[in-house]
Amino acid sequence: MSTRTTEIADGIFRFSTYVPEITPDGFTFNQFLLRADEPLLFHTGPRAMFGPVSEAVSKVVPLDRLRWITFGHVEADECGSMNQWLAAAPRSEVAHGGVGVMVSLNDLADRPPRALQDGEVIDLGGKRVRHLDTPHVPHGWEARILFEETTRTLLCGDLFTHTGDGPALTAEDIVGPAGRAEQLFKASCLTPTTGETIRTLADLSPKMLALMHGSSFNGDACGALRDLADLYDGWLRDASRAR
Ligand SMILES: [Fe+2]
Ligand SMILES: [Fe+2]
Repeated sequence: MSTRTTEIADGIFRFSTYVPEITPDGFTFNQFLLRADEPLLFHTGPRAMFGPVSEAVSKVVPLDRLRWITFGHVEADECGSMNQWLAAAPRSEVAHGGVGVMVSLNDLADRPPRALQDGEVIDLGGKRVRHLDTPHVPHGWEARILFEETTRTLLCGDLFTHTGDGPALTAEDIVGPAGRAEQLFKASCLTPTTGETIRTLADLSPKMLALMHGSSFNGDACGALRDLADLYDGWLRDASRAR
């Protein structure tokens, strides 16, 4: 298992580990590091990936300088190695939305996590991240998204998940591949508010979409978010009519 590092925007590093056994095309697990006075990691990866991922991260920022450990929701690929990171980075703190902290992280995290209010900004010194509660988008009632304001990078977590080992960064269509992966995994919660929540992310005018599974995207990010919202709304309408 090896982890590749790419700087996808100024001071935003993507660490990608490809697992060929998952799906016929294989599947990537990506973490992101925001280099700043207070470096922030988004997604920890599962426990089994801690070795190669932490080694790759340490080549960009010494692990004991990491200040924030963050992720989109509570699943093994998002936060399985959280406590290994907390141990490796003694000054680091887990930050998450209020629901995630109350329901799971107060118990799961080896040090007390910080609960963020919806819309709260952390100034990292050189980077600024805004926390957004997005319940059930893509899944889990604690789900949240992080927006880095200086590069306008939306840390999307599992949104736009697609298979294969594409380039670190693409401007090609990601909505079609995301739709095909959704048909395969059935991972997203399609609720009456899913499309609306995704459209509020487009309203942030992101320039870059950083995806946990698949290539990051620097094409028309707002258009891609609106197209994904329309796709999900359409599926929900079809499912309602079929009943
Ligand atoms: Fe997930
Ligand atoms: Fe994931």
